[in-house]
Amino acid sequence: MKYDQLIIYYFSGTGNARNAAIWIEKIAKEKGLNTQLINIDRFEKIEIPEITGKILIGFCSPTHGFNLPPLMLKFIWKFPRLKNADVFILNTRGGLKLSKLFLPGISGAAQFFPAILLRLKGYGIVGMQPLDLPSNWLILHPGLREKVVHSIYKRCEGIVNNFATELIDGKRKYKALLSLPIDILMLPITFGYYFIGRFFLAKTLIATDACNNCEKCVIQCPVGAIKMIGNRPFWTYKCESCMRCVNACPERAIETTHTFSTILLILSSLIISPLLISGIKYLGILDWINQSVITRNLWTIIDAAIFLVFVFMSYRILHFLMRYKFVNRIVTFTSLSSYKFWRRYKVPVQSK
Ligand SMILES: Cc1cc2nc3c(=O)[nH]c(=O)nc-3n(C[C@H](O)[C@H](O)[C@H](O)COP(=O)(O)O)c2cc1C
Repeated sequence: MKYDQLIIYYFSGTGNARNAAIWIEKIAKEKGLNTQLINIDRFEKIEIPEITGKILIGFCSPTHGFNLPPLMLKFIWKFPRLKNADVFILNTRGGLKLSKLFLPGISGAAQFFPAILLRLKGYGIVGMQPLDLPSNWLILHPGLREKVVHSIYKRCEGIVNNFATELIDGKRKYKALLSLPIDILMLPITFGYYFIGRFFLAKTLIATDACNNCEKCVIQCPVGAIKMIGNRPFWTYKCESCMRCVNACPERAIETTHTFSTILLILSSLIISPLLISGIKYLGILDWINQSVITRNLWTIIDAAIFLVFVFMSYRILHFLMRYKFVNRIVTFTSLSSYKFWRRYKVPVQSK
């Protein structure tokens, strides 16, 4: 065997990336490889187990907004240079199934960006594997049916087993490179999501009166983004919208405020932002900056900043108003996620 040890660091919102890591661990253990699985939820310092000989290090994570989630990116950024180590990256994506056709998700920068970071740290990249496990993006669509989830899972387990076997046997696998042209084309959206989209999504979640204050969401949040304000969970900008809270809530009390969020988007882009920007231009508030620097790009950034401040203030107000029964009813009635057809995503449990 090429390696003496395997360490897999994983982050997983709803369990897909964790399951992929468990599959790899199983194969490694069957081959007699000393293996450790490390969850990086709320990590403060990077845990490096005692190392013996040549090691293979894996990073397993979901894809969020055509990139790895900030938590995993931060982890990789801070990851020390270790000698005698190769690495692999496995990103779980949002796979779907249409009749008999398995539809892949999109990685965007989720593979090549961490690969570049790790290469710059001196690591040899031996594996880059996207994995189309069921999409858990419940803000956009209802959770998939159990039958579909199981069929996607069966397919993916085979893919991961092959991937793990070949890596452990010393081969290299770069399946992720097949979609590189599309991934590069996605870059503008990747940036847009990273700097604006994810902050907006963090403010689309709200707990209704069905919440019984069990604080499971607060305790389980992998980034500590949820705090209790006035006996109701409040999602801060740290939220990565990983969907763990939405799926784990025993009371099904967490909803996506579809209508409210759409109204905010429209209000901000058609009324608030244009008005404020015209005001800034009219009053010459930014005239002290060299005019040639105020390009269209700068106005776009100001526009995005106004949007985020507006969303933040509106979310505070909505959170406060949720104490009134009629506001609760309106939010519940206008959130698609409160209807039965908007299933939650239940990940199949894989035993270690
Ligand atoms: C906020 C968010 C953003 C997502 N962005 C993408 C994406 O850009 N591309 C993709 O293929 N899947 C995307 N997905 C789907 C997840 O990556 C996919 O379902 C993954 O397998 C979930 O893994 P987990 O259960 O370990 O969290 C997204 C999901 C969420 C919640």
